Amino acid sequence: MDYSIETAPLEELQCDCMIVGVYQDQQLSPSAAALNNSTEGLIANIVNRGDLSGKNGEAVLINAIPNSKIERVLLVGLGENKPVSVKNYKKALLAAINSLKKPQIKSIVCCLTECEVEGRDWQWKSRHIIEVFNDAVYQFTHTKSDKETESKIEKISIFAPETERALAHSGLLQGKAVAEGMALTKHLADLPGNICTPTYLAEQALELGKQYASLTVKVLEETDMAALGMGSFLSVSRGSRQPAKLITLEYQGGIKNAQPIVLIGKGLTFDAGGISLKPGPGMDEMKYDMCGGATVLGALLAAAQMQLPLNIIGLIPSSENMPDGDANKPGDIVTTMSGKTIEILNTDAEGRLLLCDTLTYAEHYNPEIVIDIATLTGACGVALGRVASGLLGNDDALCNDLIAAGETANDNIWRLPIWEEYQEQLKSNFADMANVGGRDGGTITAACFLSRFAEKFRWAHLDIAATAWRTGPTKGATGRPMQLICQYLTSRAQTSQNISG
Ligand code: BES
Ligand code: MN
Ligand code: ZN
Repeated sequence: MDYSIETAPLEELQCDCMIVGVYQDQQLSPSAAALNNSTEGLIANIVNRGDLSGKNGEAVLINAIPNSKIERVLLVGLGENKPVSVKNYKKALLAAINSLKKPQIKSIVCCLTECEVEGRDWQWKSRHIIEVFNDAVYQFTHTKSDKETESKIEKISIFAPETERALAHSGLLQGKAVAEGMALTKHLADLPGNICTPTYLAEQALELGKQYASLTVKVLEETDMAALGMGSFLSVSRGSRQPAKLITLEYQGGIKNAQPIVLIGKGLTFDAGGISLKPGPGMDEMKYDMCGGATVLGALLAAAQMQLPLNIIGLIPSSENMPDGDANKPGDIVTTMSGKTIEILNTDAEGRLLLCDTLTYAEHYNPEIVIDIATLTGACGVALGRVASGLLGNDDALCNDLIAAGETANDNIWRLPIWEEYQEQLKSNFADMANVGGRDGGTITAACFLSRFAEKFRWAHLDIAATAWRTGPTKGATGRPMQLICQYLTSRAQTSQNISG
């Protein structure tokens, strides 16, 4: 995809389709008004005869523009003529891009940057347009015979006046990086478990390392993990024919000794539940149990592409969770790298068994903060639905920063408590703790479990079990919470630059 900022006047533009906004009560955005003037009232005609009311999310394609190098114009309803909310802006963008999935349309100029969005500037709008458009045209064809995609768009230009060019351009660079990271995240997540194994994920990470000089990728093998004493992690992979990997990515963009941000992503390439086998219906979706890991890969790609002035470590513990003669059994007790022992009462609560050893391993990096991202509990969807990801953590400032980043990026999270009363539920008669805490507050007790391995640093946990993919007829990875993580990192980069410069 080719991206650019377009500052030329309308008369000079050439494209397959130009996207312009129309408000309710027949009010035209500046570029719609300009087009209307140069076409002897074409747009006003369409609006006046009632073909477009201007309601948010409406879209009408005008297929022929007399005497113009602009082949088509897409009119998009923006609602009332006042600053729109972030959610309505996204709705309008989606209506626009979904109307343009036609073979004839290869180049577009988007003028919806003109639309005022509550509390947002040109940088944000340009970034958001690229994120939303790319997300919408993504199509998984890797394992289909027919590789044709619905959208043939190759060139996206974003309109901005000369005075806003710099802001719009920096938003474009960010949007491009985030969009590329998200496409990688979704692609890896959509791949089936027989292709996307822990070894495959590790190869993809090594590939990324070759593409970016700022990224150093190393993969710890089972023997390395055994030497580190990761008895909990390895107990899960023992039941699988696929060797486990602990993928490490080191991005050095900040000053040499600056403490890094560590991102940990759960990378279960398939979770059958183990001996506590999951029910059959919907089990295919457990190929998505590596979405946290895929998000970490996408985020490091984006960080490297944006050359963020930060040090970031990505850690992806990757394994399968299968039933097997050598698999974990309910009641088994394992010893973690930290020395703490765990009674495995349910082998399907495997994510935390990988994450606990990875959290301990993260101490090696002397992290400033640690954020783990995991499709950890079905209970999170019961609590928050598919709208917000769950957030739990031991540091209020970090949690608030993440919530703010989610709001900015329109990728929302909601905090749940990890008060010590909940820790009771993890009591075991035979080990330091059990790996499950019963039905009540399942997302919280999972985070309580993790918190015991995150005592040495500021830590936040994102439970993305219900937000990382859609089920049903549009089944597929969403790429969340890439937008939130990238927003957090870019905001952090901004503050660290302000401090150092
Ligand atoms: N990967 C699952 C969580 C999950 C479940 C994600 C459904 C998306 C949809 C995780 O490993 C798991 O199985 N969690 C159990 C925990 C339980 C045994 C305490 C769950 O949520 O049922
Ligand atoms: Mn499980
Ligand atoms: Zn799982």
